[in-house]
Amino acid sequence: MPFAKLTPEEAAALVSHGDIIGFSGFTPAGAAKAVPKAIAARARAEHEAGRPFKVGVITGASTGPSLDGELARADAVLFRTPYQSNADLRKKINSGEVQFFDMHLSLLPQSVRYGFLGRLKFAVIEACEVFPGGEIVLTTSVGASPTFCNVADKIIIELNRAQSPALLGMHDIYEPKDPPYRREIPLYSVRDRIGSTVVKVDPSKIVGIVETNQPDESGGFEESNEVTQRIGQNVAAFLAGERRRGTIPTPFLPIQSGVGNIANAVLAAMGENPDIPPFEMYSEVLQDAVFKLIKSGKLTFASTTAITVSPEMSKEFYDNLDFYRSRIVLRPQEISNHPEAVRRLGIISINAALEADLFGNINSTHVLGTSMMNGIGGSGDFTRNAFISIFVCPSLQKGGKISTIVPLVSHADHSEHSVQVIITDQGIADLRGKSPHERAKLIADQCAHPEFRDALHHYVELSRSGQTPQSLSKAFAFHQHFMNTGDMRGVTLD
Ligand code: COA
Repeated sequence: MPFAKLTPEEAAALVSHGDIIGFSGFTPAGAAKAVPKAIAARARAEHEAGRPFKVGVITGASTGPSLDGELARADAVLFRTPYQSNADLRKKINSGEVQFFDMHLSLLPQSVRYGFLGRLKFAVIEACEVFPGGEIVLTTSVGASPTFCNVADKIIIELNRAQSPALLGMHDIYEPKDPPYRREIPLYSVRDRIGSTVVKVDPSKIVGIVETNQPDESGGFEESNEVTQRIGQNVAAFLAGERRRGTIPTPFLPIQSGVGNIANAVLAAMGENPDIPPFEMYSEVLQDAVFKLIKSGKLTFASTTAITVSPEMSKEFYDNLDFYRSRIVLRPQEISNHPEAVRRLGIISINAALEADLFGNINSTHVLGTSMMNGIGGSGDFTRNAFISIFVCPSLQKGGKISTIVPLVSHADHSEHSVQVIITDQGIADLRGKSPHERAKLIADQCAHPEFRDALHHYVELSRSGQTPQSLSKAFAFHQHFMNTGDMRGVTLD
C-alpha cells in the first residue's frame, strides 16, 4: 500500500480550526467513525488550552454517535448541513449553539461542487478497500462521498475491516456534469447501472489511511404497534385500490419509503397484502423490512444510497452478499434522490410527517414551528416529483395530547401543491383533484382523530369565504392551546 498509515489522532492533528470537512455517511451506514471521534478529542484539548477549535461538518445525511454525537458534545461544530438526527446535536442546534442549515439531500453534492458551502479542506471517507491507483471502494453508503473526494484538497480514508471488501461491485458511482454542460441522467429503469464501481481519485490527494474495525452504529427498530400497523395496512389498501382501478400501471411502480418505524411497518404491510404484486424500490435508505421483502421475493430490486439495518440484518446481508448483490445497487444521493429520475421512473413516495394541515401542507421538521427535529432529508426530492406522493403519520402524538392534523401547519416543508395523499391510522385522504374546501372536509373526517374532528370542522366554518377557508387569528389555536396547557385537547376556537 503506497499510502501512509495514520492513527486517528495523527489524522485529527492534520485538521485546523475553521476547516470544512466532508465526512462519509448517510445515516450511520458508512459513516466515518474513528477520525471524527479523534477530532472531538482534539477539540476538547484545544478548548482546555483556551484555544478555539471548530470545524464545518458536511455529510451525506445523518450519521452515527461517533460523528455527530462526539463532535456536538465537544462543541466542535462550526456549522452543520444537510441533515442530522442525533439527540445531542439537536439540542445544540435548538439552543442556537450550532448553526444548522436544512437542505434537500439531492442538492447537497452539487452545492458543494458549485462552491456554495465553502472550500472543503478534507474528505474523511470510510472504505472497505483502496487500490494504489486511487480507486476507493465505499462501504454501506455512497451519499455525497464521490463529490467530497473530488472537491476536497486532501482525503483521509478510514479503512474499516468490519466492512467486507466483497462489497466491490455493489456501488454505481456517477456524477453529473455541472451547467452549462449538464446532460440528461441516462437512467431509464431502477436496475440501470450508469457509472463505475469505485470512486476514482488522484492518489496523491490521499494523505493517509486510518485502519478501523467497527460495524455501523445503526440501532435496531421498534416492533410495529397497533397504530403503525394500521397506518401500514391503510397504505397497502390504498395502493392495492389504485392498482385495481388502473391508475398504477401493471405490473407496478417503484416505491420510495422514508426512514423510521412507520416506514418499516408500511413496507411490512405491503409485503403481506396479496393485491400488491412483487415490486421494486427506488429509495434513499434500505431498512430491515426491505431485506425481508427481498428474501420473500416480494421485492425484486432495490436502488438506494444507504443500507441502514440492525446488527442482526447486517449479519444476514453479509452472510448472503452474493444473493443481495444482484438485487441491490448503491448510488450517490445526487442520483438516488434526483428529481429527474424520480419523475421519469414514476416513483410512489411514502414519507412521514410531524403534522399535516387541513389543506394538505406538511410539516416534517419543526416541532411547534420552532424546534428542529431532524431535517427535510430526501422527502422533498421525492414528494415534489413523485407519481403519487403520500404522507403518513399517527393521528395522535404524545399520548393523545397532540393532534397531528391541525388547521395550519406551524412550519411548511411540503406544500399542498406537492402532497397528493395523507394517510393516518384513522384512514386515507386522497387529495388529488380536490379544492381546499373539499380537502379540509376529507382530512378532518378521514385522517384526524375523532377527539379533534369537531374543532377542525369548526375551524373551517369560521371562514366560509375565499378559496381557502383560513382564519388568521385562529390558525394556530391548537398549537397555542398546547403551549399554554401542555395539551391540545379542549382547544376552543371562539
Ligand atoms: N408534535 C410534537 N412532537 C411530535 C409530533 C408533533 N406533531 N409528531 C411527532 N412527534 C415526535 C414523536 O412524539 C417522537 O418523539 P419521541 O422521539 O420523543 O418519541 C418523534 O417526534 C418521532 O416521531 P415518530 O412518530 O416516532 O415517527 P418517526 O420516527 O417516523 O419520525 C419524522 C417522523 C417526521 C420526525 C421523520 O420521518 C423525519 O425526520 N422526517 C423528515 C425527513 C424524511 O422524511 N426523511 C425520509 C426521506 S427519504
